[in-house]
Amino acid sequence: MAPKEKKSCGQILGEWGEFLWNSRTGEFMGRTGSSWGLILLFYTFFYVFLTGLFTLTMWVLLQTINEYTPKYQDRIVHPGLMIRPRTEGLTVTFNVSDRASWQSYVTALNAYLDPYNESVQASKNDVCRPGVYHLQEDSGNVRNTPKRSCQFNRTLLGECSGLEDRTYGYGEGRPCILIKLNRIIGFLPGEGKTPFISCGGKASDSEKVHELQYFPPNATLDLMYYPYYGRQSHVNYTQPLIAVKFRNVSTNTDVNVECKVYGSNLKNNDDRDKFAGRVAFILHVKTT
Ligand SMILES: *[C@@H]1O[C@H](CO)[C@@H](O)[C@H](O)[C@H]1NC(C)=O
Ligand SMILES: *[C@@H]1O[C@H](CO)[C@@H](O)[C@H](O)[C@H]1NC(C)=O
Ligand SMILES: *[C@@H]1O[C@H](CO)[C@@H](O)[C@H](O)[C@H]1NC(C)=O
Ligand SMILES: *[C@@H]1O[C@H](CO)[C@@H](O)[C@H](O)[C@H]1NC(C)=O
Ligand SMILES: *[C@@H]1O[C@H](CO)[C@@H](O)[C@H](O)[C@H]1NC(C)=O
Ligand SMILES: *[C@@H]1O[C@H](CO)[C@@H](O)[C@H](O)[C@H]1NC(C)=O
Repeated sequence: MAPKEKKSCGQILGEWGEFLWNSRTGEFMGRTGSSWGLILLFYTFFYVFLTGLFTLTMWVLLQTINEYTPKYQDRIVHPGLMIRPRTEGLTVTFNVSDRASWQSYVTALNAYLDPYNESVQASKNDVCRPGVYHLQEDSGNVRNTPKRSCQFNRTLLGECSGLEDRTYGYGEGRPCILIKLNRIIGFLPGEGKTPFISCGGKASDSEKVHELQYFPPNATLDLMYYPYYGRQSHVNYTQPLIAVKFRNVSTNTDVNVECKVYGSNLKNNDDRDKFAGRVAFILHVKTT
């Protein structure tokens, strides 16, 4: 058996050196200059090609995007309801005789309703015809922008407008809650018939809610506020509101309230989506 050939350190270094630069064949790392050149050329073309392909694909995709309306919004076909004042865990709790416990609600409502002042609405928006959709469609490629919006005056909220009763009823234990229908671009709620909102105590709590009053009366969401065309085109859009005044509600106990919107294309009892067309909140009024 032949003894195993053992390379010396010098030999190994020598081989490495030759691999890096072989002066006999003129090869650098096993390839000649022209071979390296071809590789470089190949990759250059390859990457230029990839970049071009990517750019072309992006361009084609961007052509199909309309900057005013989202392409895909089928995920939310049923608008939800939300309340104001916005509260932690949808719980409105306060002590009538302790101003500090409800002042934050009043401050929030004041701020929320500022843009609904008549002066603001008169300067920004139009007086529209009630009972019909305020359609401002584009005709073909002629964009009908910007879209005008309809006035929703704060005075429509009556006792819940905060104009006469500066505490929105919180100071006397008859609180107002504002309700809004979340916006969906292009959606026509009610399919031509005015949708409305109705609130009440949930299940056994229904007997804790003795008297409710809605503003505007009949709790309707007028059709003239629809459709909504999106933030970009509908710049001064003012969302219609419904105010509910709890005129006589059981005190010193949690009252589970639920409000629902009613209209032919509005869902409000979906087991999988507890926010579609409805909102549930807890009202707890403390008195002494
Ligand atoms: C409500 O506030 C008043 C005055 O601060 C206080 O005396 C009373 O104990 C409070 N009631 C409750 C139920 O917390
Ligand atoms: C809206 O009206 C209220 C009550 O009159 C007033 O306090 C508030 O400053 C007004 N806000 C704007 C933005 O005009
Ligand atoms: C809102 O108020 C303005 C100014 O007072 C009035 O001209 C307009 O008719 C009101 N709009 C609605 C929808 O009530
Ligand atoms: C939006 O409101 C401003 C005044 O605040 C007004 O100058 C502008 O024309 C309005 N734009 C539209 C599209 O209604
Ligand atoms: C409220 O509804 C009743 C019954 O449908 C109707 O007679 C009345 O005119 C409505 N009121 C308003 C302000 O729309
Ligand atoms: C509130 O409703 C209850 C039950 O219907 C009634 O007994 C009570 O008198 C009402 N309170 C007021 C102030 O209307």
